[in-house]
Amino acid sequence: MRSKLVAGNWKMHGGIAQNRVLLDMIVTGTAGLRGADCVVCVPYPYLSQVQSLLQPTHIFWGAQNVSQHDKGAYTGEVSAAMLADFACRYVIVGHSERRALYGEDSRTVALKFRAAQGAGLTPILCVGETLEQREATVTEQVIAEQLDAAIELLGVNALVKSVLAYEPVWAIGTGKTATPQQAQDVHAFIRNRVAAHDIGVATELQILYGGSVKANNAAELFAMPDIDGGLIGGASLVADEFITICRAAQS
Ligand code: PGA
Repeated sequence: MRSKLVAGNWKMHGGIAQNRVLLDMIVTGTAGLRGADCVVCVPYPYLSQVQSLLQPTHIFWGAQNVSQHDKGAYTGEVSAAMLADFACRYVIVGHSERRALYGEDSRTVALKFRAAQGAGLTPILCVGETLEQREATVTEQVIAEQLDAAIELLGVNALVKSVLAYEPVWAIGTGKTATPQQAQDVHAFIRNRVAAHDIGVATELQILYGGSVKANNAAELFAMPDIDGGLIGGASLVADEFITICRAAQS
């Protein structure tokens, strides 16, 4: 039986003072949560702060990107081992903003996925189509290419200690959420594609939905059979919103 996961993606937002207030509220507001894990993926400079604030709590933390390399002359990059030094449990890889703005292709993303797992982190692998791709009815081909890159490089068993996140690009930060059925259809496609390799891996795989998840639509999304939680951008910065979303994921 899969448990649910709600992951906040703070993107490039935050500040020492406001993080403390937000995290205090989230910790208090999600106390006693059952059947769902909560995680905040924060900008690198705040990992130390987040580690010390969240260590004694039930909330996990992680990062939003990682280098595919272990170490070396890669100015500005951060390795998976460095994230492990701050006890990150999760790291997002292949977010559509990384793919679109920083030219990360599916092979690079697969290498980042491997680097994360190599350091004991759980990668949250993002996949998703643009509006043009959806309108051209190539959504499944796009998702398949993004997913297959990881499976081909690492083998299907690499998905055992990982999380998938389906994030239609047209729904990110736009206020346009996929309908529960639209999301469910793609989640089922992903699970079936993994099942073609290994049914056991597919059954256990947590697949999150991301893209304008809010307090007022989380419950109906999370009620779908193949949606195992959410990857939350904007609403993860608003304590009440994020708490309500975490509660919607409770069993
Ligand atoms: P959003 O972002 O919830 O603000 O749409 C989701 C994401 O980019 O992960």
